Amino acid sequence: MKGFKIFFIVVAVLLLAAMVIAKQEYRSIPSTLTEESKACLECHETEIPAMVKEWRYSRHYGANVGCYECHAADPKDVDAFEHNGFNIATIVSPKDCSKCHQTEYQEFQDSHHADAGNILGSLDNVLGEVVEGPMAAVNGCKQCHGSIVEVNDDGTLTPETWPNTGIGRINPDGSKGACSACHSRHSFEAALARQPENCGKCHLGPDHPQKEIYEESKHGIAYYANIDRMNLNSSSWVVGVDYSAAPTCATCHMSATRDLPLTHDVGSRISWTLRPPVSQKIDAAAKAKGKVVKSWEDRRDDMKNVCSACHTSNYVDNFYVQFDGAIDLYNNKFGKPATAIYKKVRGSGLITNDTNFDDELEWTYFYLWHHEGRRARMGAAMFAPDYTQWHGFYEIAERFYMEFIPQVNEILEHAKAEGINPTAVAEVEALIKKTFEMDEHKWFTGDVSAEDKAARKKAREEFKKRYAK
Ligand code: HEC
Ligand code: HEC
Ligand code: HEC
Ligand code: HEC
Ligand code: HEC
Ligand code: HEC
Ligand code: HEC
Ligand code: HEC
Repeated sequence: MKGFKIFFIVVAVLLLAAMVIAKQEYRSIPSTLTEESKACLECHETEIPAMVKEWRYSRHYGANVGCYECHAADPKDVDAFEHNGFNIATIVSPKDCSKCHQTEYQEFQDSHHADAGNILGSLDNVLGEVVEGPMAAVNGCKQCHGSIVEVNDDGTLTPETWPNTGIGRINPDGSKGACSACHSRHSFEAALARQPENCGKCHLGPDHPQKEIYEESKHGIAYYANIDRMNLNSSSWVVGVDYSAAPTCATCHMSATRDLPLTHDVGSRISWTLRPPVSQKIDAAAKAKGKVVKSWEDRRDDMKNVCSACHTSNYVDNFYVQFDGAIDLYNNKFGKPATAIYKKVRGSGLITNDTNFDDELEWTYFYLWHHEGRRARMGAAMFAPDYTQWHGFYEIAERFYMEFIPQVNEILEHAKAEGINPTAVAEVEALIKKTFEMDEHKWFTGDVSAEDKAARKKAREEFKKRYAK
């Protein structure tokens, strides 16, 4: 009987303690939090509990930035709706964040990332919307590039356009992008954004395998072996000061060095754009339009400044010679000739030129620059020999000699037999001839000097001898 009483008292005490702790947890809402945000928590603490827990874990929690500070909307906003006595919006756009983070906002809006929603009408877009189908674009392209968010009459967002955190999303308030593309809600941790996986949602796959390239590079190897020494949770994150084991994507493209501040313009340290069929210096397009932008030389200097926390200037300068060499090789040997020939064939109507992707040559050329050509160039940019070689130049070479040129020749044969556009045929033939007169291509036609042939034969025999041992 006595035992039962004690048991009862213990249970009662425990219950009381639990109630006090529970109450305290509730009370741990800072009294400085706005009344509006406190009201949100009344329901959302139980309604969507994980969301509130993540917010509690964030730096915003400690800084009194509550639900209402971010979700409040002007009743005139297109996506504003009345919600339990408050005017709110579901999307917290970059413009909303800019109330407190003006610098990050401005840098982001000026970056190429912010423009990633402008892909409508591009060649890839025809592929996504038409050749594949609109829902492929909704679930595919736009989840990386960003949708144009549309709002229903009641302020809710249409299922064709949201959920979406594409990097160049066009928001109902006209601002571009989604900060939550890199800063997952509601913890908004810098630590998460600093990891390569964060960029890897979008920067991977056959046409821009930066994530895979990083993983196979010495930098990726050093990162994964030493994550615990990366100091990812530190509020200050200066390379060479707060960490030293390895660089991540953010280190090289965004984060602070001893001399440079953090930037939210990911293009501000790269000197080339390796995306188009023929690579260009990154400021070339702007210069051609007469616009003044940060020069490619200044951008390259900034990237070198990142490297200088861990490498000597000789090491880094030599790397850039190797890298530029690979880009020139791609451009001059394959990119430029293939593009000139392709444009002439298509432009003069030797294949249909009002519809993309209905001719085999269009697919072949697309693989050449958009997949293999980018892989070779990006592999060289970020230290991944397998992407540069076997997934890159090897496949470019095979595509060029074994598919592209033979397909063009077939088109010319057909045109000749049918008597189609003889002028264009002659022009394409001249371009092919010019291409194969280049020293780099002479091996293919066999038009090589006796000297070169003999040197190659000798090298081959020596190689065989070495391996025969
Ligand atoms: C009276 C309870 C209550 C209050 C107070 C409240 N909410 Fe909600 N809220 C809800 C419920 C319930 C949902 C719907 C949850 C669901 O669909 O699973 C919701 C949904 C939402 C949504 C998503 C809307 C959508 O459909 O896209 C947002 C954003 C939101 N609340 C923010 C807030 C903010 C900010 C506050 C404070 C200004 C707040 N809520 C106050 C109960 C409440
Ligand atoms: C720092 C700003 C910020 C704060 C603080 C904040 N949110 Fe959000 N919230 C966002 C962003 C950004 C999104 C993502 C919207 C989008 O772009 O799709 C979001 C999305 C949401 C959604 C819809 C997403 C879903 O998965 O259903 C709800 C509901 C929501 N927030 C409720 C809350 C509540 C409740 C609080 C307070 C505990 C809160 N938010 C605090 C920025 C914030
Ligand atoms: C009302 C002002 C306010 C708004 C709105 C706001 N923030 Fe913040 N944010 C802050 C403050 C203050 C801090 C610094 C907190 C600290 O240092 O403890 C902060 C810190 C951060 C950090 C650093 C976190 C870390 O781990 O170091 C990120 C990232 C961030 N905010 C992103 C956002 C994003 C994205 C939005 C919009 C969706 C947003 N903020 C909206 C005030 C705001
Ligand atoms: C997994 C995410 C992802 C998907 C899905 C995706 N893209 Fe991209 N796209 C990217 C990234 C990342 C880049 C930039 C690569 C770089 O700079 O190396 C890019 C580059 C581009 C470019 C080149 C832009 C320029 O400035 O030259 C176009 C155009 C494009 N994508 C259109 C599309 C279309 C259309 C689709 C759907 C058919 C699509 N993308 C699917 C992530 C994606
Ligand atoms: C491409 C990914 C990416 C996007 C998009 C992005 N950020 Fe960041 N952000 C980062 C990374 C990475 C860091 C951490 C960098 C560091 O500390 O070295 C960061 C850090 C921050 C910080 C902390 C700054 C400091 O000085 O500690 C704030 C605030 C912030 N971001 C706000 C924003 C806002 C607002 C947006 C939208 C306009 C945004 N970010 C969009 C990647 C991104
Ligand atoms: C949600 C998808 C997404 C995420 C996440 C993302 N990016 Fe991008 N990024 C893109 C797209 C799409 C483009 C191409 C934009 C275009 O050309 O229109 C791009 C372009 C770039 C460029 C080329 C910029 C230029 O000026 O030419 C760099 C560098 C880059 N991203 C680095 C990063 C880094 C580093 C991270 C992570 C910290 C990151 N990105 C996260 C989608 C993303
Ligand atoms: C050690 C530094 C370093 C790291 C780590 C790194 N990059 Fe790069 N990245 C570079 C350099 C150098 C270039 C080429 C710069 C130039 O053009 O001058 C580049 C180029 C790029 C480009 C431009 C491609 C184009 O279309 O022109 C993108 C996008 C990119 N990196 C994304 C990433 C992503 C995503 C990660 C992580 C998975 C990453 N980088 C990791 C140094 C780095
Ligand atoms: C945080 C330090 C750090 C930064 C920043 C950094 N690296 Fe490295 N880098 C390393 C480490 C560690 C290795 C591996 C060293 C080894 O293998 O002994 C490495 C290796 C390399 C290699 C050799 C690759 C190989 O396969 O042998 C090259 C080239 C290189 N880095 C270039 C660069 C360039 C260029 C930059 C700037 C764009 C840069 N690194 C930025 C730490 C860094």
